[in-house]
Amino acid sequence: MSVARLSRDRKRQLGQFLTPDSTAAAIARDLRILPSHRILEPSFGEGSFIFQVIDSLKADIPRNDIHAWCNAHLFGCEIDADAHGTFKETWQSRGLGGVPNNLEHCDFFEWLPPGCDRTAATNRQRYFASPLEYFDLVIGNPPFGGSINPDIQDELDSIFGFRDGRKIKKETYAFFIVKCVDLLKSGGRLVFICSDTILTIATMTGLRAWLQSNCSIQISEVPGSFSDTNQDMLLVTLTKHPIEPRQITVFGTCLPLSEIEATPNMSWRVSGDLAKYFTGATVGEKMVATSGMTIGNNELFLRPIIQGEIHEPYAFSFTARPITVQREITRARLGKVPPRRLIAVREQEARCATERVVVWDRLKNPRPVKLPHADYCYYNKATSRIIYSEPEWVIFWRGDGEYVYTFKKTGNWYLHGVGGMKYFGREGLSWSLIAPRLYARYLPPGYILDSGAPCAFLRQGVPQDELFFILGWALTDLCNRILKEVLNHTRNIQSKDFERLPYPVWVDAESKQQAVLAVRSLVSKARAGHSFSMKSSEVHALNLFYAWRDCRVAVVAKKKNAPIQIPLF
Ligand SMILES: C[S@@+](CC[C@H](N)C(=O)[O-])C[C@H]1O[C@@H](n2cnc3c(N)ncnc32)[C@H](O)[C@@H]1O
Repeated sequence: MSVARLSRDRKRQLGQFLTPDSTAAAIARDLRILPSHRILEPSFGEGSFIFQVIDSLKADIPRNDIHAWCNAHLFGCEIDADAHGTFKETWQSRGLGGVPNNLEHCDFFEWLPPGCDRTAATNRQRYFASPLEYFDLVIGNPPFGGSINPDIQDELDSIFGFRDGRKIKKETYAFFIVKCVDLLKSGGRLVFICSDTILTIATMTGLRAWLQSNCSIQISEVPGSFSDTNQDMLLVTLTKHPIEPRQITVFGTCLPLSEIEATPNMSWRVSGDLAKYFTGATVGEKMVATSGMTIGNNELFLRPIIQGEIHEPYAFSFTARPITVQREITRARLGKVPPRRLIAVREQEARCATERVVVWDRLKNPRPVKLPHADYCYYNKATSRIIYSEPEWVIFWRGDGEYVYTFKKTGNWYLHGVGGMKYFGREGLSWSLIAPRLYARYLPPGYILDSGAPCAFLRQGVPQDELFFILGWALTDLCNRILKEVLNHTRNIQSKDFERLPYPVWVDAESKQQAVLAVRSLVSKARAGHSFSMKSSEVHALNLFYAWRDCRVAVVAKKKNAPIQIPLF
């Protein structure tokens, strides 16, 4: 591997995208930092924020007192020895004397504020026994998508992974924010450059919910720009307010909490004109959405269909392999096997037990197989085609998938589950996981599901017309605006995002019937070979059926003096 690649991978693991000095300076300038403040930079890298904080106090603290001031007021961590080394050099080159002990080379997740009792046995006990509300200001740019020390991951999850009854995603920036808010005094501020995924993605719902019940929140643009990362970043300013009233302002617009709470993901991108669609009824009441499976080795089991046939390069069979503790550890999560399982495997190894594994031999010449064939099923991979797509892939599915299941079960821990298994073979709809909008299409019965193309299926007892009504809805511009602006503005469209879509209760019975007929007709035409795109006039025409019926709902809203919750028809 090249040196540049190694360094890039290491940087990515550390979530290391350093803030340009000009950006850190612009942020620090606006903060009106006072000499009395106690300040934390939890992952200071090469120190851009640290130096800007010091510079911003030049007028208030005589140069000779800076060192003493830092010792009492400025705290920080940096896990990377190289970045910390560069920081030390810059510190010394600025003639600031020795680097204060408070600016440590350490893991912030193991760091505790001064005065904590370090005698407690576990990280968790030490954490909750430490003086948490300690800082007036936390400033920085925490790692995004960084890795967390596997030895303490589970323990950290027990400290930060759950707040106010909701899950906090085990992501470096989320855990950094939670810990830093814990460390803030009441009235203290946290100012972080942060990934913009904090605004909408469903996995951060718990974080948003917890923050908005503890802080006033301001989201703004980051001054200047980064050359180092493609990730869209924003500036999060949190002011800790355990008591109401609190404000949530996103890019200059104050968002009413009631509108945020009406969205299933506690979206910080809900805007006045889209808020009304969150009536409480969701697509998830009619359909259950699911991801598909990750095979772990597509080349082994998937074949592209070429003119109604495939070419099979392997002969598959089963063999017996000795069970060993070593193998169990290699494939376990974080290399940790639960104690009970370890005892069982040890015992199996001792009596020379075996497990059944798949073997495959490459054929000299790939074997042509005409489809359909009992050993193969259609496989639903992502495509940008809408309405309907002819099957393009099959999966080797002999014995009702037992080769694939066995391969997964005997592989690494993350392959053991089979996503969407109970929906395999069912009629539904599907879309591409990574896409700028829903490329929704009808999914006929009989498919095995891939994780790159989530699917949705009618709940029990829901009439089949709903499948076509919801497929039409998923193709409208309005639905996609709601999805991409309010529910999840990133490129991923997860199954849960689909379930969270508002169900268009505002469409009257007549328009609904027309929409169903129109979508059924589009699917029939597509199955007969017609190709549609988002620009096709018939697809565009769907927008009309699902448009908001403004005046009729406004009457209800006025009468009840409350947000609209009920359809009129
Ligand atoms: C996005 S960079 C920002 C660095 C610096 N705050 C700046 O603005 O230039 C994130 C920093 O977090 C550091 N880091 C990652 N995980 C950490 C951890 N667990 N504890 C302390 N620092 C960490 C990385 O090495 C990296 O320097």
